[in-house]
Amino acid sequence: MSLIIKGGRVIDPVGGLDRVCDLEIDKGRIVRTGRGLSGERVLEASGLWVLPGLIDMHVHLREPGYEYKETIESGSRAAAAGGFTAVACMANTDPVNDNGSVTDFILSQARRRAAVRIYPVGALTKKLKGEQLAEIAEMKVRGVVALSDDGATPMNAEVMRRGLEYASTFGLPVIAHCDDQNLSRKGVMHEGAVSMRLGLPGIPDAAEACIVGREILLAELTGAALHIAHVSSRRSVALIRGAKERGVAVTAEVTPHHLTLNDAALAEYDTNLKVSPPLRTEADRRALVEGLIDGTLDAVASDHAPHNIAEKEVEFENAAFGMIGLETSLPLLLRLVHAGTLTPSQLVQVMAVAPARILGLPGGTLGKGVDADVSLVDPDRVFSVDPQTLLSRSRNTPFGGWELKGKAVCTLLRGKKAYEDREWKSRQKVSS
Ligand code: DOR
Repeated sequence: MSLIIKGGRVIDPVGGLDRVCDLEIDKGRIVRTGRGLSGERVLEASGLWVLPGLIDMHVHLREPGYEYKETIESGSRAAAAGGFTAVACMANTDPVNDNGSVTDFILSQARRRAAVRIYPVGALTKKLKGEQLAEIAEMKVRGVVALSDDGATPMNAEVMRRGLEYASTFGLPVIAHCDDQNLSRKGVMHEGAVSMRLGLPGIPDAAEACIVGREILLAELTGAALHIAHVSSRRSVALIRGAKERGVAVTAEVTPHHLTLNDAALAEYDTNLKVSPPLRTEADRRALVEGLIDGTLDAVASDHAPHNIAEKEVEFENAAFGMIGLETSLPLLLRLVHAGTLTPSQLVQVMAVAPARILGLPGGTLGKGVDADVSLVDPDRVFSVDPQTLLSRSRNTPFGGWELKGKAVCTLLRGKKAYEDREWKSRQKVSS
């Protein structure tokens, strides 16, 4: 039965399209775009943006091992509610995803329970210890799309070199969490004037930049595809910009929280603001926005990191690092669009096109014949973030009570509804 998404602003940078028209879907695939299309079912989309399904290339779904924080099912529902049709999930589960049987488990749970596509990221080293390489070949066969010790950095550069070499023989990118643990060891926030005032131990920006520099040099040495996760500082942006100018195969991502907040926000000791890497200065935040606009930073990824109350409602120093992000990513990025800093097409580029390209995934376009993974977004819908109503199993967001403008109202996976906003649904007339 064909479905017409009628009268929305269809934005598909890959196809060079940004205009108000209809989109036809049949048998789970995109058939065509055009005006005056008719079909058996119609979704009225006037006033909405019709986008390729968003892709979050960096989330923590916590299963197996930490199901009290999140599961593949709950995390994927949160993803669909955030407008995402695919996520790549990190390996710091228990057991760690460092061998084929854990990869198999994640994919079988995904097949049975997930609302969106789940792409596992395998560990680079066994148990994320930074010592011996993980079972990369068997994980690749089972379906990992990248390798990463996210949450930790292999401190031994030789291990990283071998990891990059080995990954490149399998055509897998390495996602680097850049943190020199000897520099950051006891730190809980950015090291600077604010940490001094608050009396909290700091993490210097050099802890990130030292490793960004190291990984770039190792990528140059090995020719491997390197992706820098959650860039937080202007020094790192400058290093990545320089590497790209030299033609190094490096890509990078930035989180909505690093684009939105700076370390001054920590004045009230809200542990939901404790993240790794930490929120840095306003100058760093601006450099990240600039880096996103000029393409130094290719993609936006949430680093969705669920933790439960017991891990967050403690002294700042003892709280876990991380915040959830799947359901606030798009609205936070839309702030940049509403401010005129980013165009809607650039938003699609960084939230769908680039993640698909970097990880070699299908999607990121509304081209004829591709699977109909589509995100319908109401750019003008004003809402207040209520942590209690989020679909994630955890509530650790610092954005509770924030009034945001714009959200996903309907997410289609292969042409079927994976999420529908209640208010939008009640207004929707489905004709047949
Ligand atoms: O804040 C973070 N939390 N950063 C990471 O890289 C890991 C994540 C987690 O797993 O909780």
